[in-house]
Amino acid sequence: MTDSRAGGGIKGVVSSGTAAEVLISASEIAGRVEGLGTELRELYADSPEPPVLIGVLKGSTLFLADLVRAVGIDAEVDFMAISSYSASSGQSGVVRIVKDLEGDIAGRDVLLVEDIVDTGLTLTYLRRSLGEREPRSLRTVALLDKAARRIVPVPVEFRGFEIPDVFVVGYGLDFMGRYRNVPDLYAVRDLARLANDPTLLVEPFFGLDGPPRA
Ligand code: IMP
Repeated sequence: MTDSRAGGGIKGVVSSGTAAEVLISASEIAGRVEGLGTELRELYADSPEPPVLIGVLKGSTLFLADLVRAVGIDAEVDFMAISSYSASSGQSGVVRIVKDLEGDIAGRDVLLVEDIVDTGLTLTYLRRSLGEREPRSLRTVALLDKAARRIVPVPVEFRGFEIPDVFVVGYGLDFMGRYRNVPDLYAVRDLARLANDPTLLVEPFFGLDGPPRA
């Protein structure tokens, strides 16, 4: 992957405003994903069967797509989807599987691929559910870790970046379904403003310089 993934013009446009600013550039992400891929390739080199990378829909899809290529060994991919909850709804910790795995993971080396670990409630639930299926091993790789917001301690064996308590969008992460396809990761400066107008970042991200460049 090259520096052209950094999404040049978009970054400049948004940084000059006040709505969001680049937290981690696409080229920084690409470099870290390559590093994680190397570590995981070494870890799973002697696995009796290909590891199964499990993506949690939808936020982890871009990370998973890059990571599975960076790992570069025979591997399988499967997906789960869970109901989302909002901390403000009083539903914290209530997680439900709305799409389960297609394959059986008993006896397999399983790598749960998460976009971000925040309170840790979602990951705790997922690890329990997957652990009950008796995999040979179960590890988590999270692109982002908001460690300061953790409510429940949960193992995160591999992480891309530890980030502060800011709301981020881009590289798979959304706000109300938008902005997943922005190549860089942005910190939203004024979440209340974005909540009031979820289209706030459409013009800065997509309007002036055209769509994000891959
Ligand atoms: P947890 O259960 O609190 O750890 O929440 C994890 C989930 O919350 C992630 O998979 C995301 O869907 C969502 N989330 C937490 N922080 C952010 C953020 O900054 N941007 C977008 N989604 C987030």
